[in-house]
Amino acid sequence: MIKIAPSILSADFARLGEEAEDVRAAGADYLHFDVMDGIFVPNISFGIPVLRSLRKSSGLFMDVHLMIDRPVRYVTAFCEAGADLVNVHAEADTAENNLRALREVRALGRKTGVTLKPATPASALEPYLPFVDLILVMTVEPGFGGQSFMADQLEKIRAIRALLKERGLRCELEVDGGINAETAPLAVEAGADVLVAGSAVFGKSDRRAAIAALRGNL
Ligand code: DX5
Ligand code: ZN
Repeated sequence: MIKIAPSILSADFARLGEEAEDVRAAGADYLHFDVMDGIFVPNISFGIPVLRSLRKSSGLFMDVHLMIDRPVRYVTAFCEAGADLVNVHAEADTAENNLRALREVRALGRKTGVTLKPATPASALEPYLPFVDLILVMTVEPGFGGQSFMADQLEKIRAIRALLKERGLRCELEVDGGINAETAPLAVEAGADVLVAGSAVFGKSDRRAAIAALRGNL
């Protein structure tokens, strides 16, 4: 079954706890938590104290997507604040430092992920493959919700799915950006098994119907 990870970047921040509960009750698998530092991406969102508060009120699996420069500086703090999985961008630091970050995450008993921007080739995954539970492929330029799905990333998703199969690796393949009822089946057909959706879930008043629509055509 395809997992759905609503991105709270598109939620009503004045009611974050209720918004998280609403999508949990509507069948979400993960809550996708987009952290932006204004340096790695040209936007600033939210961070550690917000995650800590949400963790207290929500039992959802927290999928933390760090769009921050040199994430090794902060991964321990995000784990302590309640992350269940921490995703670092391959472009955010050297592979050596990012691998150190992932080791810290695993040492704290949490899951690890590595993320690729649209221009980054699948080959950039090589150093990370033995150490990640999830690979995240961006299908928009990271930084903002509500952008259009980049269909030219489907080939990369397909190549990564083939690579995972060939190597017998069991990590999940998540896709983030521009996912809606029309693009979800394309991502799944290419090999995605976790779909992030911000505006296509939180932009709709009926979240159960919105999540069902993402799974619907599959
Ligand atoms: C973009 C974020 C996404 C974003 C997705 O930088 O990583 O998670 O919230 O939003 P939609 O689904 O609206 O494209
Ligand atoms: Zn994201």
